[in-house]
Amino acid sequence: VNGFSFIRGSDLDISLSMKLLQAKPVNEALRNEISTRVLAFSKEWNRKPHLTVVLVGQDPASQIYVAKKQETAAALGFSSETLVLPSNVDPSEVRALIQGLNSREDVDGILIQRPLPSVFKEEDVVYWIDPAKDVDAFHPENVGRLSLGLSSFFPCTPFGVMALLQHYEVPVAGKVACVIGRSSIVGKPMHALLLQANATVIHCHSKTQNLRSLTRQADIVVVAAGKPGLVDASYLQQGAVVIDVGIHRNAEGKIVGDVDFESAKAICSAITPVPGGVGPMTISMLLLNTLQAAESRCEAQSKAKTE
Ligand SMILES: NC(=O)c1ccc[n+]([C@@H]2O[C@H](COP(=O)([O-])OP(=O)(O)OC[C@H]3O[C@@H](n4cnc5c(N)ncnc54)[C@H](OP(=O)(O)O)[C@@H]3O)[C@@H](O)[C@H]2O)c1
Repeated sequence: VNGFSFIRGSDLDISLSMKLLQAKPVNEALRNEISTRVLAFSKEWNRKPHLTVVLVGQDPASQIYVAKKQETAAALGFSSETLVLPSNVDPSEVRALIQGLNSREDVDGILIQRPLPSVFKEEDVVYWIDPAKDVDAFHPENVGRLSLGLSSFFPCTPFGVMALLQHYEVPVAGKVACVIGRSSIVGKPMHALLLQANATVIHCHSKTQNLRSLTRQADIVVVAAGKPGLVDASYLQQGAVVIDVGIHRNAEGKIVGDVDFESAKAICSAITPVPGGVGPMTISMLLLNTLQAAESRCEAQSKAKTE
C-alpha cells in the first residue's frame, strides 16, 4: 500500500522495492493514540488539554497554518485559542501577554507563530515562554535538554521525521545519517535526535566542501537546506533512505522539496514525498507535545499537593 516496485534502468538484475514514506498512515496511527490519551486526560483531570497560539499580524500563510492547528486540535479533543495582535504591536506587550499565559493554570502549551515582524528579536523571544509550556521546543532550556539527552519536548519537524522513520521501521541505530542544513528549528535538532537514536551523524551546511562525497556515505539522508532540487541521485548511495524536509512552490505552482524526487527514486530504498511526507507530520507532533505538557503539569501539581 505504501510503496511500489520498479526495475532500475538497464540493471535488470537489480529489482528494488522502493518505499514511499507517506505521512498519512503515520498520522492516522498517531492521531488515534493522541485522541485516546486526550480522552483519558480529560476524564482524569476534568478539563481538556489546552493550546494557545499567539499570532502577530496578518500574514496569510501564518493565518492558514494557525487555522489548521486549531482545526486539528479540536478534532483530537483539545481546547485551543488563537490570540491575534496587530503587526505594529510593541514586543513588550507580547511579552507581557506571554507572561500572563505562563501563569494561567488552564494553559498547557503556548506557541508563537513565526515569522514575527522584524522588530522582534528571536534571541529574546525564545526566552519568553515557560519551558514547561514551550511546545515548539525553542526555549534554550529545552534546546539544552535535547542536546544533553534529557527528557524534553522535541521540535516538531525533526520529531515528525523520527516518527516517520519509526513507523516505517527504518533502522537508525548504527547507521550513517547525513543531515543537510543547520537551522535551529530543523537541522540542529535533527542531528541531536538522530544521535540520540544512535546514528553516526554527518552534518553539512552551505560551507561544506564536497557535499556529494559526504551524502554518498549515508544510509539516511535528511535534506533541510531550503534549496529546491538540491539533492539528486548523484548525491545518494544505492539503497539510501531519503527524507525531504524542503517545501517550495516552483514556477508552475507545484509544491516541490529539496530533493529531485524523479532522479532520487531510481536509487533510494525509501523516500518521503513532497507534499505528503514530512510536512503533514508537524501538527501531530505539536499536539503530542501539548498533550505531554498537560500530562506532566497535572501530574506535577497532583504530586505537589500530596507531598
Ligand atoms: N513542517 C515542515 O515540513 C517544515 C518545517 C520547517 C522548514 N521546512 C522547510 O525546510 C527547508 C529548510 O528550512 P530551515 O528553516 O531549516 O531553513 P534555513 O533556516 O534557511 O536553513 C537552511 C540550512 O541549509 C543550509 N544550506 C543552504 N544551502 C545549502 C547548500 N547548497 N548546501 C548545503 N547546505 C545548504 C544552510 O547553511 P548555512 O547555515 O551555512 O547558511 C542552513 O543551515 C525549507 O524549505 C523550509 O520551507 C519545512
